[in-house]
Amino acid sequence: MTPAMTPGASPARRSLLKVAALACGAAAIATMAVPAVYVLAPDRRAGNGGRWIRTLHLDALPDGEPTRVVLIADVRDAWTLAKDQELGAVWLLRKGEAVTALSAVCPHLGCAIDARKGAPGFACPCHDSDFGAAGERLTGPSPRGMDPLATRLEDGYVMVDFREYRQGSKERVEVG
Ligand code: FES
Repeated sequence: MTPAMTPGASPARRSLLKVAALACGAAAIATMAVPAVYVLAPDRRAGNGGRWIRTLHLDALPDGEPTRVVLIADVRDAWTLAKDQELGAVWLLRKGEAVTALSAVCPHLGCAIDARKGAPGFACPCHDSDFGAAGERLTGPSPRGMDPLATRLEDGYVMVDFREYRQGSKERVEVG
């Protein structure tokens, strides 16, 4: 029998041993938790920190005319995989071989932005925000211009780096 288990051990010594046992238990639990954080972190990044999504082939984009594209992708969280989810929409603008993308989500309160008919630029019908041909803010309550998204070409297809930004803010702050 160890001194710790001796019925005659002092109360102070028993308290000290209890604290030591609790500390060992907490350390063991913390050790088990570390791999879970490591495994889940990449999923959170994929869901909220931007992702490259394949859209249309460059040949399918008319030159100089905005084209609205809905972004579809599988969404994974810590435990589930939801196939073919609609993430949002973007306006693609082709000029020759170069393609730029603007989020179709209005920075004011999140309505869908339309391309103006018969004139360059964009407009949000909810509260009449107007944007220029490059997505810059012109008039209305939107606090900033349309949110640009990075693009690149891969095997002839336009890839878009999908991100979401805070609404109602003059600064462009990514959410998620
Ligand atoms: S949501 Fe677009 S102007 Fe208000």
